[in-house]
Order: sequence, then structure tokens, then C-alpha cells
Amino acid sequence: MKIIKSIEEWRYIFKKHKTNGKTVGLVPTMGALHGAHISLVGHSVKDNDLTAVSIFVNPTQFNNPDDLTNYPETWESDVAKLEAAGVDYLLYPAYEDMYRDNYRYKLIETEYSGDLCGTARPGHFDGVLTVVMKLLNMTKATKAYFGEKDWQQFQLIKDMAETFFIDTEIIPCPLIREKSGLAMSSRNKMLTTEELERAPLFNKTISSGKTIAEMKEELTSLGFKVDYLKKKEGRIFGAVFLGKARLIDNVKI
Ligand code: PAF
Repeated sequence: MKIIKSIEEWRYIFKKHKTNGKTVGLVPTMGALHGAHISLVGHSVKDNDLTAVSIFVNPTQFNNPDDLTNYPETWESDVAKLEAAGVDYLLYPAYEDMYRDNYRYKLIETEYSGDLCGTARPGHFDGVLTVVMKLLNMTKATKAYFGEKDWQQFQLIKDMAETFFIDTEIIPCPLIREKSGLAMSSRNKMLTTEELERAPLFNKTISSGKTIAEMKEELTSLGFKVDYLKKKEGRIFGAVFLGKARLIDNVKI
């Protein structure tokens, strides 16, 4: 696996692969990799000649500075996992290189991004859409892979790619859970042992078939701070705080 920091170098490399008719799969991440990321990589490796993973903790999508400070970093184990998963390129840009304009230009969606997670995290999806558009433009990937845990993120990215005539096909991949039912997330690393034992009750509660009001009450009594719970598009979406972590999940009704 080749690790590339320079954006110029990677644009050159991917242009060459494109010219040679190779398909490229891109898996954008913020590092702290776990089984769900590796499952996205698995889809990409199966579908494409080459797979690139980006690790970039994107500051513009953190509306809460503490969340950025506490975001886990596990570089060495990330590299080992990606090597083992058969990744060809690891893209690792610096902030100054990604945001040469210091975020003077940004992408703003005006409807769906203000719902669900967007209500509680103003500006979050502007940061996500802006960085993903940059990554897609730099790599000109054939396909890019996103998990369905971040359902709203996937919908917005797919819509953005269509709206701006970006050639990359945006591929959704199933949400991956721990055996306990807890959705895999980099933020689970922020939980204490006791919180980690309690965290699966979030999924259990939103899968219980109870009313939203009952679920909220139950989660609150279990020590979660409910950010939102909402029925939409045949699913229940939720975000809760547990200790330092903000956890999200969604289940089909
Ligand atoms: O889902 C994530 O990890 C991030 O939002 C993404 C898509 C890598 C953009 O920074």
C-alpha cells in the first residue's frame, strides 16, 4: 500500500490510472478504523481494479470543538488494517493542502441538511459535502462507498454528486453492528467500559416497536441524553449522547 500525502501526487497517479482504463474505488474516512470501514473497503476491492482510502479528520464538519479534540486517532492500527484488507493507496492530506482557501468556499445544501443530525449540528453537512466533493474531484473515483449508518450523509452525498454532475457512482453499504447490536462507530472508542455495556440498549430501544415518546423516556431513564428520535422514510433515526460520545443509529420499521 502506498501512502500519499501530497494532493498533486495523488491527482497525477489517479489521472494515469484513469487513462489506462483502471477503475478506482474510494473509501473516505476520518481514521479510527473499525469493522464497518473494512467492510466498505471489502466492497471496493471486490468492485474495482484499485482501492484508495482517505484518512482526513475534517475539522469543518465538527460544530463542537471538544468533539474534534476528543476524536480518536489510531494511525498505526489503521495502516495495518488497510494493508491487510488489500488497499492500494492511503491518502493522508494535511489541512493546509485540503483547505488552501481556509474554507472560504463551501458547499451548502438548504433543505435536507437541516433535518435529523443537521438540526443539532449546524454546518456539519456543509463540511461533509465540501470535503467529499474535494475528494471526489481529486481522485475522479469510479465508485465511492458510504455506510448506511450515516443514512442522511449518504443521501446528501448521492444527491450532491448527481446535482453537480460528478461521474463517481455513490454506493451505499449496509450498517455493520457489533454482536451486541451496537452500530460500529469510531466514536465507540470514546466510551468507558461501563458505557460500552450500556450502549447496545440504544439500538434495542429504537427497535422495540414502542412510540417515539416511550422510546425517549426509556432512553433517558437508561442514562442516555436524547438528541433526537424521528420516524422518517420508513425508518427510525436517532442520535443520543452517552458520556463523551454522540451515537447515531437507524432501523427499518
Ligand atoms: O463518515 C465520515 O467518516 C465522514 O463524514 C467523511 C465521509 C469521511 C467525510 O469527512
